Amino acid sequence: MVTTESAPTGWGTEQALFAALDDYIDTHDAAPDSLIEVLHRAQEMFGYLRQDVLVHVAKRLSLPEARVYGVATFYHLFSLKPRGKYEILVCMGTACYVRGAEALVNALEKQLDVEMGDTTADGLFTLSAARCIGACGIAPAMRIGNDVHGKVESKHVRRILRAYK
Ligand code: FES
Repeated sequence: MVTTESAPTGWGTEQALFAALDDYIDTHDAAPDSLIEVLHRAQEMFGYLRQDVLVHVAKRLSLPEARVYGVATFYHLFSLKPRGKYEILVCMGTACYVRGAEALVNALEKQLDVEMGDTTADGLFTLSAARCIGACGIAPAMRIGNDVHGKVESKHVRRILRAYK
């Protein structure tokens, strides 16, 4: 199935994107065991792993589509949906969990009108969970883009998000 979604700006036209992906695949001699590297590159270029991109990769690496799809869905770092401009990573590690990470997730879901794993309608935020973001001392913590926010309470969410709009 071929979708008609457009590529993120900065990488040129669709044709140029596929040509660049093909060049990358050629540098790996289209070897089936280069699948993960190729998927990484494809996600970097297209923003996420669209169905038509997965089909293209499967063809070029001579792999069954089901295998490519299976790998793309198995690894957390691959996304089959468009990502927002900012990724909000809410820590669900033990320290954060016991200090209210669940309430924080609820507040974010409500404020952004999305569920965990989804992207807001304006394409600004993607809400994701993490195991530990290395900020246990300021739990509950979350990261937005490169910024770490600590001791976040539900009542702070609106103000924090406003700074990214
Ligand atoms: S457990 Fe949340 S930052 Fe480590």
